[in-house]
Amino acid sequence: MTANELRSKYIEFFKSKNHVEISGQSLIPENDPSVLFTMAGMHPLVPYLLGEKHPAGTRLTDYQKCIRTGDIEEVGDPSHLTCFEMLGNWSLGDYFKKESIAFSYEFLTSPKWLGLDPKKISVTVFAGDENAPRDEEAAGYWKENGMPEDKIAYLPASDNWWAAGPTGPCGPDTEIFYWVGEGLPPVGSNKGTDSANWMEIWNNVFMQYNRVDEKTLLPLEKKNVDTGMGLERTNCILQGKKSVYLTEVFQP
Ligand code: SER
Repeated sequence: MTANELRSKYIEFFKSKNHVEISGQSLIPENDPSVLFTMAGMHPLVPYLLGEKHPAGTRLTDYQKCIRTGDIEEVGDPSHLTCFEMLGNWSLGDYFKKESIAFSYEFLTSPKWLGLDPKKISVTVFAGDENAPRDEEAAGYWKENGMPEDKIAYLPASDNWWAAGPTGPCGPDTEIFYWVGEGLPPVGSNKGTDSANWMEIWNNVFMQYNRVDEKTLLPLEKKNVDTGMGLERTNCILQGKKSVYLTEVFQP
């Protein structure tokens, strides 16, 4: 599969789940004064994540080019890029954790779609802190989909809380990882026990809050889902390459 084919499959999958395809936006954000560049798929959607009605509906899918400078120290390793593409599916007050997790798992593992080996997939969920509880709900849905308990790592906000900036929509997330070590992952291995051999490929954010200032987190009227799947990373693992830079996106 090529990156172009992966992008098409992703959009087709979410269209089959009643999502409407919308187009990606400029790398220079139009609706978000809090950032200089579009650094996540969610930036162009911030007004809708905060409650404005989107003309295309409540289930959307898209692909969005992003520039992310926060990872600059890691750029050049096998998985980090400054400019990359995020494949996204969005629920604006429509479905929440249950469907979001089920959709991701089906797209990744179903032979009809990517057909990845479930044994090589692990996830992380939010461990909980003073802002929000441990995300047992997300962990429960992973288990319903067949994820073994020892493949679920509970990590703190530094790993499993998404906020695009100091203010704005935010919430706990669940991240999906693929094994990039040799053979199969050892029993009990997950991102918490072995961070080097699991590559993040997808982040599902459960946006439940709006941070209005440092101390105030208000619940959003409608809960949203914001997911971002890394096109170059997923392409890399599908091709069994050791680095995103070795795929056709960069080579020859
Ligand atoms: N906003 C999340 C991220 O960029 C998911 O799309 O990782």
